[in-house]
Formats: sequence, C-alpha cells, structure tokens
Amino acid sequence: MTEQRGNWTSSAGFVLAATGSAIGLGNLWKFPFITWENNGGAFVLMYLVCIMAVGLPIMMAELLIGRSSQKSAVGALKEAVGPAWGVLGLWGVLCGFILLSYYTVIAGWSLFYFAQTVGWTAGGFPDGLQTGDLFGEQVSNPGLQLVMSLGFSMATVGVVYFGVQKGIERIARLFLPILFGILLLMLFSALQMEGSGEALAFVFRPSFSELEPAGILEALGHSFFTLSLGMGAMITYGSYIAKDQSIVKASAVIVVLDTVIALVACLIMFSVIFSVAGMAEQVGGSTVGMLFISLPQLFYTEVPFGTILGPLFYVLVALAALTSTMSLLEVVTSYVIDEHGISRHNATILCGAAVFVFTIFAALSFADVPVLSTLAVFEGKTGWFETADHFVSNWMLPTGGLGITIAAGWFMTREKSEAELVDATTPAWFSYGAWRFFIRFVAPAAISAIIIAVMFFGVDFS
Ligand code: TRP
Repeated sequence: MTEQRGNWTSSAGFVLAATGSAIGLGNLWKFPFITWENNGGAFVLMYLVCIMAVGLPIMMAELLIGRSSQKSAVGALKEAVGPAWGVLGLWGVLCGFILLSYYTVIAGWSLFYFAQTVGWTAGGFPDGLQTGDLFGEQVSNPGLQLVMSLGFSMATVGVVYFGVQKGIERIARLFLPILFGILLLMLFSALQMEGSGEALAFVFRPSFSELEPAGILEALGHSFFTLSLGMGAMITYGSYIAKDQSIVKASAVIVVLDTVIALVACLIMFSVIFSVAGMAEQVGGSTVGMLFISLPQLFYTEVPFGTILGPLFYVLVALAALTSTMSLLEVVTSYVIDEHGISRHNATILCGAAVFVFTIFAALSFADVPVLSTLAVFEGKTGWFETADHFVSNWMLPTGGLGITIAAGWFMTREKSEAELVDATTPAWFSYGAWRFFIRFVAPAAISAIIIAVMFFGVDFS
C-alpha cells in the first residue's frame, strides 16, 4: 500500500456524489427523448417498475460488493466473489473507458450552447437564425469539437486528480445543490406555460395501448444507464463508504433522486413543446433535437424568463455531465491505482490522456473524416461515435449488469451480502429475503430478456 485509500467524509457526501454520477445526460438528454418516442404515460410507468425491480436491487449489489472489499471494480469482484470475477471488473473498466470517451463530446456541446445563449441574452436572439443549421455547423467543425471536448476532459481530470474527498465529494457537494436549484427554477417557469397541463397528462396518464413491447425493454435498458449500473461505477463509489452507513438507505435516496430529476426534466421540456403550436410534430426524429435544437430557440421566444433560464439551463447540463464524467474517470483511475500501484496523480493524468485519444475519434466523427465518420460495424450506425454508443448501451451495460446480478446473487455467500445490507442502520421497510429474490431471479431474467432482444430481435437502446 503506497497511499491510503480515500473515504467519503460523510453519508451525505457519498449520496451526493453517487447521485451526481447517476444524474447526467441520461436524465436530461436521453430520458425525455425516449419517453417522447414511446408516447409517455405507460412507458414512464414501466420505467418506474424497472427502476424498482431491477435498478434498486443492483444498486445495492454494486455498493455492497464495493464496501465489503474496499477495492475498486476489479479487485472488489475478485475479493468479494472470487478470483475469476476480476474479468467482469475489467469489462466494466473498459466500458467506463469507452463511455467516458464519447460522453465527453456531448458534454462539450453544453459548453458551446452556454456560450451561445450568453451571447443571445446579451445581444438578442439573431433574426432568422436556424438552430438546426447552427447545430449542424458546430458538430461538423473539428477544431471547435476538439477544443470543447478537451476543455471538458481537463475539467474531469482536474476533479479526479484531487481524489475522493478533495475532488469528487467536494465538487458534488458544491454542484448538486446548484443543479437542483436551477431545475426547480426551470420547473416553476415551465409550469406557468399553457402546455404544462398537457405535459403532466403526457407523462403521468398511462395509455397501455400505446406501449410497444420494445418500449418495455428500452425502459429496462435505460434504467441501467441512468443509474450508472452495470460497469462497476457504483462498486467503486461503494468502496469508499464507511461501515456505519446504510447501503440500503443510500441506494433508495440515490434511485429516488435520479428518478425525480428525470421526470422533472420531462415536465420542463414537454411543457415548452406543448405550448408552441406545431412543435409537438416537429420534435422527435433525433435525440439531440430537443436539447440542442428546439430548446435553444424556445428560450428566447416562449419560455417565461427564458433569457436568464437559457444560459442557466446549459450550465445545468454541463454540471450534470461533469458529476458523471468524474465518476466514469474514477472507475478507470481507481483500477489503475489499486491494481497497478500507481499514484493517484499519475494515474489520473495517464487515464485522462488515454481516454482523450478516443474522445478525439468521437469528436471528429461528426466532421468529414475518413473512417471515423463512416465506420459501419452495426447496421444503421455510422461513425465512431454511434458505433461506440451502440456497443456500450446494447452490449456492455446489459452483459456487465447480468454478470453483477449473478456474482452478487449466486456466487457471493449469503453471509457476506447479508452482513453488508442488514445491520443496525437498515430501515424497517427493507427485506433481505426480497432483495435476494430480486437479485437472483427477477433481475437476471429481465436482463436476459434485453440481451435476447438485442441479439435476435434487433432492439436498439443507443
Ligand atoms: N448515469 C449517467 C447518466 O445518466 C451515465 C452513466 C452510465 C454513468 N454509467 C455511468 C456515469 C457510470 C458515471 C458512471 O448520464
């Protein structure tokens, strides 16, 4: 042991950091889009079921594997479950590496839109500007993409460099309350708009005739992504939890906060969309459409206090993304620290730089660059970015998640998992027997359904 392992300073610090990891582009960018595509209500209800039946038990499983061994993904699985399970940890580290490499690119876009909206607030929204064209120009500008991704990458490295307490926990404590504050302001403004009634009905009034079976699997797949599960991120964060904190309580808080924020993001976006005539027909078609094409303009034409909320909104996106990217980099970095005995400072810079090489590929895949923008491994996915996203969301997260349920449910001893979940801090509503049933049977069956759907029925989660 060259360096002492970090620890969260308090239960609240840990919960904020893990919630920050969970809340990210998945909540603000992906969830509203897939909810829209799947016609709201019934899909949202299925999503809630998946979160409770699959997401929550796996969250507990990952945290307990981390805490019982006090090691990052690879070492934790080896120690808590068995030596061969280190492979599953490596799979997770690789997944974190790839996900971080392209997530950073989208995070970079939030910086561009922040700068734009600040300009529009100061100088007025330009007459006749087509935000669709603006988006196209920014993604296909290689220099701009590289600068923004590099900026974001350096911010991520800058946080992780200072470690668990002085970096990750400190930033999470500072930024999460700001993020909640901005979202509340936006929700308040959105609910004043005339489309808010329709938005509430769209999200909360289920109509099962409009839900396709593939939608259920999409809800399940997204519950993994949004809770940062299936790749050892929560194992890593769990390894810094003190023994006197309740994993059960913390898991419940993280899962509830992540879900509430995802629903709030939907209400905000849909209230705006339903308030503008013809907008509901226009939106959709692409995931980026809502966040980076429709909304930028609507802030200046429709949203009450939009000139202030516009720039604030993109700050929110950037903060949400940063608290996720730092958790992704921590997965990779902590593995290098724990398993290869490299100091945190060196490990952070090494991993950050290695990931950035692939971020360059992802950033350039929207410009006209041979191979990077034309790569076609999976049907219907062109370019490095789409290929990586498809591989992570459809293959790596579900298989990693399945591995974790099997590791925790079937290969870890009952005594070990029970000792982590049940102690004086455990809330009365928790039943160890129920958890064990979900982790051994319900979750693996549900995830197997995802994998089968991806392999044989062409369902696509990216
Ligand atoms: N949960 C993040 C989001 O919703 C994305 C994510 C998936 C993630 N796996 C992760 C973030 C692991 C950090 C660590 O945007």
